[in-house]
Amino acid sequence: MKYLLGIDIGTSGAKIIILDEKASIKNSETIEYPVFTPKTNWAEQNPLDWKQATLTGIRKIIEKSDINPSDIKAVGLTGQMHGSVFLDKNFKVIYPAILWCDQRTTKECDEINEIIGKKRIFEITSNPVLTGFQAPKIIWLRKNKPSIYKKVRKILLPKDYIRFILTGVFATDVSDASGTSLFDVKRRKWSEEIIEKLKIPIEFLPEVFESEEITGYITKEISNITKLKEGTPVVAGAGDQAAGGIGNGIVEEGKVSITIGTSGVVFAHSEKVVVDPKGRLHTFCHAVRGKWHLMGVMLSAGGSLRWVRDTFCNEEIQQAKIKNLDTYDIMTEKGKKVPPGCEGLIFLPYLAGERCPYPDPDAKGVFFGLSLKHKKEHIIRSVIEGATFGLLDSIEIMKEIKLPLGEKYIVSGGGGKSDFWCSIMSDIFNKKITKLSNQEGPSYGAAILAGVGIGIFKDVKTACKKFIKEKDVFKPDIKNVKIYRDVYKIYRKLYSSLKNDFKLLKELS
Ligand code: XUL
Repeated sequence: MKYLLGIDIGTSGAKIIILDEKASIKNSETIEYPVFTPKTNWAEQNPLDWKQATLTGIRKIIEKSDINPSDIKAVGLTGQMHGSVFLDKNFKVIYPAILWCDQRTTKECDEINEIIGKKRIFEITSNPVLTGFQAPKIIWLRKNKPSIYKKVRKILLPKDYIRFILTGVFATDVSDASGTSLFDVKRRKWSEEIIEKLKIPIEFLPEVFESEEITGYITKEISNITKLKEGTPVVAGAGDQAAGGIGNGIVEEGKVSITIGTSGVVFAHSEKVVVDPKGRLHTFCHAVRGKWHLMGVMLSAGGSLRWVRDTFCNEEIQQAKIKNLDTYDIMTEKGKKVPPGCEGLIFLPYLAGERCPYPDPDAKGVFFGLSLKHKKEHIIRSVIEGATFGLLDSIEIMKEIKLPLGEKYIVSGGGGKSDFWCSIMSDIFNKKITKLSNQEGPSYGAAILAGVGIGIFKDVKTACKKFIKEKDVFKPDIKNVKIYRDVYKIYRKLYSSLKNDFKLLKELS
């Protein structure tokens, strides 16, 4: 039997899966690491934590899987997008990785718009430059840490740092490069114009590949540490959303997925480059050769519910420990006791600022309509509803630009595991919601890409058709659809009403 390894450098941990040649998951291993927030709105990680977790994880999964490591025929990489890893001339990490959800670069975004021109950057990259993207982080380091920037020789995205560790090669893929603001998304290559104008040496950036292309091979040193065979090919892989798109089978027009992790993402395949002229959604290269995708990315969907758990739900955490249950299941049981619409309580999920559809680092979370009758169960349900309304904002834009959205949406991520959240999605979107029998998402997609890269699978689309199976379906309840339609009308107005006040609040803090 031949096997494939999928590695996902996520925000909360490195996840590694082994797939067999029928694309069944043989085993999985996750090793967690911390996020550091040295200042408000900053988010950093130590790339050496990713390295340690990945190497330990590979070794562990091989040991527990009882397979001959030389039967692992290829490796696929995926990971959190947009993060910046800075290396010196000895290829040592010289500054913490600045992550996708870090919001420190408002001024640098303005500066880039001034140098290149807002319109021109949109024409080339198909997107506005946003605080989470890579280019403003590079400019931030140059301006704020000049002595460190002077030493920089390579700048990598998170999964591409791990590629360098595994293979010694500097490479990236078209989907991840799309989130740098340095990439010509239509032509699928670095934009020399932007890179020159921003005075970033082009040799700092890795070579770009299509996602299933082989970029390098496992080195002897890594083979000794992990037991993976020296010379095992490593394919380019993809950013976590594009790889997740493959893992969810979103590889043809009319297919849409909703992924709820820390972030919340609506992801749609596109045969050609389609942009929202107002730049409220991202248009990136897909991990399917010659195709693109659109997505709306919220910064705190599952992250908002985690905040409720950690802030208000100690009692539920303790109960879960005693009963050996998941705390989220106990919380959602409470949320079920409250009617749709939460008796007038509406939550705005901007706890970490927001990206889509409001690129606003200063936006904040809001409970609107709070009254004496509201209890913890209302808070829980309103946070789930508010995060789902946030996803609906992106879906509405996709409808507005006439993107084909199909009959149903596929769900994945932690939030997608909850039947309660799935039925709320179905009611709020007025759409069928479908779970897949395997919900591994990005790591599964990365392993499929590895299989395509070495010819075990014919191509991505054929592999997805053959292996991705649908499981549960949730259908909208028309009574709830009507209630949510009215609540959404108010939800939608709240950001515009509060936008200026968020700025005033920022000045106070
Ligand atoms: C995508 C994005 C997040 C991160 C972390 O644009 O910022 O999905 O990749 O998952």
